[in-house]
Amino acid sequence: MSEHSLLQPVQLGSLSLANRMVMAPLTRQRAKQPGNIPHALNAEYYTQRANAGVIISEASQICPEGQGYAWSPGIHSAEQVEGWKLTTEGVHAAGGKIILQLWHVGRISHPLLQPNGVAPVAPSAIQAKAECYVQEADGSHHRAACAMPRALETSELPGIVEAYAQGTRNALAAGFDGVEVHAANGYLLDQFLCSNSNQRTDAYGGSVENRARLVLEVVDAVVAATGDSGKVGIRISPMGTFNDVHDANPLETFTYLLNELNSRNLAYLHVNKPDWVGGTYEGFDDLLKTLRGIYKGTLILCGGMDAETGAQALESGLADLIAFGRPYIANPDLAQRVAAGAAWNQINPATLYGGGAEGYTDYPSME
Ligand code: PHB
Repeated sequence: MSEHSLLQPVQLGSLSLANRMVMAPLTRQRAKQPGNIPHALNAEYYTQRANAGVIISEASQICPEGQGYAWSPGIHSAEQVEGWKLTTEGVHAAGGKIILQLWHVGRISHPLLQPNGVAPVAPSAIQAKAECYVQEADGSHHRAACAMPRALETSELPGIVEAYAQGTRNALAAGFDGVEVHAANGYLLDQFLCSNSNQRTDAYGGSVENRARLVLEVVDAVVAATGDSGKVGIRISPMGTFNDVHDANPLETFTYLLNELNSRNLAYLHVNKPDWVGGTYEGFDDLLKTLRGIYKGTLILCGGMDAETGAQALESGLADLIAFGRPYIANPDLAQRVAAGAAWNQINPATLYGGGAEGYTDYPSME
């Protein structure tokens, strides 16, 4: 048994984990077509990485409207539920655990990705200065500017909440050990939270209580759908600006949100550092320390760490588990490498998105 703090067992809500290493959610755009259906190749990739204490799946759209990138998997159709079973069975047979990340991209989309070619939906009709990824009718595919979205009617919001609940029931039917609500990185729920993307004048915009209303309704519906709050986590990205979101007062916004989440007794809060796509975010470390003090439950921290800095974050009390994204792409046996003190493979950026086995299931394990 290794002494390394990343390799100590931990309780994550209702799940008993063998170690404190989390495989972060990572978009890879390799679902089977048509239908964005998880298949054997995806199961092989996740099963190779079952050494993580827990895997969080790539973000998976809860409804067709929730898609912003070609070939990302869904969790809304019967075929997708069947397809995901290959992954959950593989990971479980290898002794691992896996949680599904529930995703709605909101305005980070394009009519080419939407049913009937309509505009994507968002809190407000404000176009994101950001990119999505589309496939044309002739099969060609490319990055594309996000389209002008349509503002959701207040009367449509219960349907969005219900889609998260149905996605949760589908994930459990597919054999996942739990679900993570994706409220980070400028996607739909973060678009509601952040002041620049939410200019609504109904009960879901304006004050922090209003901007946080949808995400809290979603959390409550997802908890109700699992019947066990210990199987539900949430991911946030305070101060993040990816996908053109900006909040005027992240301290106020996230203090309110975390105080509300405290009473929900979730499995965990997953904080995604804002610098994972580059840039500097002055004040983030202080904000993180403050939020750590406010949140009473288990905290997973993600973003740009290695074995040493990850262990430091655990030992200083800043986090309870560490999520690794790019390192888990390139190192299927990351936990074994930590135990051995071995070097880590680097990712090949050219094979991150789309394609097949290359740069996906062919990264080498240690000899
Ligand atoms: C992406 O596909 O680039 C992506 C997806 C989900 C995230 C962040 C990035 O949370």
